[in-house]
Amino acid sequence: MPVVALIGAQWGDEGKGHLIDLLASKARLVIRYGGGNNAGHTVVNERGTFKLHLVPCGIFDPATVNVIGPGVVIDPEVLLSEIEELERQGVSTAKLFVSERAHVIMPYHVMLDQLQEQERGEGKIGTTGRGIGPAYADKMSRTGIRIADLLHEETLLTRLRIVLEEKNRLLTKLYGAKPISLHDTYLQFLEFGHKLANHIADTHPIVHRALEKDLPVLLEGAQGALLDIDHGTYPYVTSSPPGAAGACQGSGIGPTQLSTVIGAFKAYTTRVGEGPFPTEVDGPEADALRQMGTPWAEVGTTTGRMRRVGWFDAVMARYAVQVNGIDTLAITKFDVLDSLPTIKICVGYQLNDTQLEYPPATVAVLEQAEPIYEEMPGWMTPTTGVRRFQDLPEAAQAYLARICQLVGARLGLVTVGPHRDQVIPVADVF
Ligand code: IMP
Repeated sequence: MPVVALIGAQWGDEGKGHLIDLLASKARLVIRYGGGNNAGHTVVNERGTFKLHLVPCGIFDPATVNVIGPGVVIDPEVLLSEIEELERQGVSTAKLFVSERAHVIMPYHVMLDQLQEQERGEGKIGTTGRGIGPAYADKMSRTGIRIADLLHEETLLTRLRIVLEEKNRLLTKLYGAKPISLHDTYLQFLEFGHKLANHIADTHPIVHRALEKDLPVLLEGAQGALLDIDHGTYPYVTSSPPGAAGACQGSGIGPTQLSTVIGAFKAYTTRVGEGPFPTEVDGPEADALRQMGTPWAEVGTTTGRMRRVGWFDAVMARYAVQVNGIDTLAITKFDVLDSLPTIKICVGYQLNDTQLEYPPATVAVLEQAEPIYEEMPGWMTPTTGVRRFQDLPEAAQAYLARICQLVGARLGLVTVGPHRDQVIPVADVF
């Protein structure tokens, strides 16, 4: 049975929520493997519109088991309010399991994230301010608090006492902020542990029993390949590995067990936050791509920030395919291009006298690279009602074929609207 990793392959916000919702309906186990509540998936289904930050999208199917894996960093308050909201709307969370090994985002992580951003001034990263970077930094420096610790009074108190001593020195002496109370934080996080207790589990046996039984498994990505801590546009990246390797590491599944890696790409490109974006446009071209006032409006689900927009960048896309072993493309928001007379694709970068096939590793060089564009005719026809590839206008088919050729992977599906059925399946992924 397939183990499918669905990863964002640009700078996040590729419309993964829609795809995950679609694929989750075919999976029996869905695992969210990385990031935290810096992510946001908007899911529109027959039960309503849902904004999920931590809970996997398989939650809408009562038969599906949902796991928040060891690679995720969890703000328990956010998770609890998401669980409450789902239950309030009649969605059962009985089959939601949170890994004991996942790390907790603590209040000092959120404070430090925001204070560090202020300190960076002009050089800010544009983080979501949710404490993600500091939480992963503590995990790596082995001073993190894990979900399991919330269930053990003594461990929590001991760890918190040690960590807070250091964090409070940092907060007060370096940033002039108020210290965090050991007493209050201890009680608050113990309470979070109690409230989450029914969901907290060793998720390893759950995952491996599903693999043994050959059940279809979906690894649900957050963020995108170009925000990867190692392979992204550093330092304008997130602090986790959102790609295929991260999918294995963050869920506890070996790479040899993946059967397919689907890369989600918008039919154009967007980015929130700071950092290089070679194909970025502004003015009327940007307004057309931004689709304000529609369900597709380019505003971030988590932060409400306006997304930067630009043309499809095949140099970055090919790189994401290569780094992650993406074999199948899911092209999203294709209908956004419906009214454009011509469409550009970036097929290379010009750097002084040299034409580049690969994105340069450093931001300073990437910022000097000029995109080389190929122009393709638009189709000027609505595609929102199309459900078969062969019914797409010829120019639309040609655009998709060119993307596949440039990036080196097959086409799996295309989305043409926000609803579950607004999908053109091309290859069988489950
Ligand atoms: P952080 O993950 O909050 O530390 O933010 C680091 C960078 O990643 C910033 O540029 C954010 O805008 C970006 N980022 C983090 N999560 C997402 C996401 O889910 N979608 C799009 N961008 C994201």
